[in-house]
Amino acid sequence: MPDSRRIVAVVLAAGLGKRLRSSAPKVLARVAGRPLLSHVLRALGALSVARTVVVVGHGADEVEKEFGGAGVEFARQREQRGTADALLAAKAALAGHSGPVIVLYGDTPRLRAEALTTLLDSHRASGAAASLLTAERPDPEGYGRVIRDAGGEVADIREDRDLTAEERGIREFNPGVYCFEAPLVFEALPRIGSRNAQGELYLTDVVRVLRSMGHRVAAVRWPRAGELDGVNTPEELIAAGRGLRGDILADLVRAGVDVLDPEKTYVEADVAVGEGTVILPFTVIQAGVRIGKGCRVGPFARLREGTVLEDGAEVGDFVETKNARIGPRTKVLHLSYIGDADLGAAVNVGAGTITANYDGRRKNRTTIRDRAFVGSGTVLVAPVDVGEDSIVGAGAVVTRGTTVKAREVYVGVPARKLKDRPEEDRP
Ligand code: UD1
Ligand code: CA
Repeated sequence: MPDSRRIVAVVLAAGLGKRLRSSAPKVLARVAGRPLLSHVLRALGALSVARTVVVVGHGADEVEKEFGGAGVEFARQREQRGTADALLAAKAALAGHSGPVIVLYGDTPRLRAEALTTLLDSHRASGAAASLLTAERPDPEGYGRVIRDAGGEVADIREDRDLTAEERGIREFNPGVYCFEAPLVFEALPRIGSRNAQGELYLTDVVRVLRSMGHRVAAVRWPRAGELDGVNTPEELIAAGRGLRGDILADLVRAGVDVLDPEKTYVEADVAVGEGTVILPFTVIQAGVRIGKGCRVGPFARLREGTVLEDGAEVGDFVETKNARIGPRTKVLHLSYIGDADLGAAVNVGAGTITANYDGRRKNRTTIRDRAFVGSGTVLVAPVDVGEDSIVGAGAVVTRGTTVKAREVYVGVPARKLKDRPEEDRP
């Protein structure tokens, strides 16, 4: 990991994204359960840069609201006049900074930290005024192409719409991942003009401008072009989502998680899974869920936001969980809804058990303590508290406000105390 204390980052996120045909700002479009921008910020996060400035414009209030707590600063681009103008909008925020500035676009969700650290290392070693990543695709339609001079140096980047017929054959494209030297880059930006097919101020022209000022621009070829997928169109949004979910599953498998069929398993971003856990097909695990070691999940399980599975927990088929802690070695194996609940260790939840967490006005919590046994088809009308080593008989309806004390046995509709749990029947 390079020393990144003196590095700052700028993420351009002011565009409307009209090609996505949505009224919301493009960077808020979701893939793998998170907005596009949050994936870019995750890649940056691993570099521990000193500051990150996000340039906002279209839907600025919405973007600032969504990322207000993300540890970034915002700069406003009043009018969307192009990517060069967007970077210029961050100039005031970075006044006084001297050194590398990483510049990224907010619509490249598969970007990973390794690509950024490689770019930074190479930038430092070369001493160039600017460095950029490039990659190759058989058909880089829509991307700017990298124009090299006779000596093989990057001389220019030409936008897709401005290509000549001959240049159209170039496979090396610009993914929009840059490292510039400040304050030099802010001196170069005002020299960029808008004589191009879109009449915009293109950041990509900074290559030509820096070279005309006598500076060197270096490039690093990145072998995994898929990580650099940009999202402009609905088709690209779908493709990036598919690619990103594949990346997430590959990371899990590399970390020792057994994913039986990655083609039929949906795991969103920011999900942590411990070693030795098995995930069976048709399982959906939503962003932010945490799963311990040696767990078993699915098939057909849906783990929603706020779910935590502790080591050795098992959640089986047609089970939905939300805002729920499932304690170590606890089993919820069939046809259950466990929401707003806290389950202790070695609890057994019988098939068809439901936590009725919503009373029509508010959500209420269910607590099931260590080693409790909840029989099949039980309805727990929250708030309820089911004590340690207790038993709730099959088909019981435990009504709101009930506390089943430790070692008691409850049965019936509504459930009432039957007796104490016999000593010989305890785990
Ligand atoms: C850009 C690059 C292109 C590259 C591609 C990689 C330019 C001129 N072109 O094209 O060479 O191959 O990305 O994906 O830079 N934005 C602003 N303000 C603006 C305009 C854009 O903040 O005035 C932001 C957008 O929100 C977006 C990013 O900049 O996050 C890139 O803009 P976009 O319009 O998507 O550029 P591309 O046409 O994809
Ligand atoms: Ca783009």
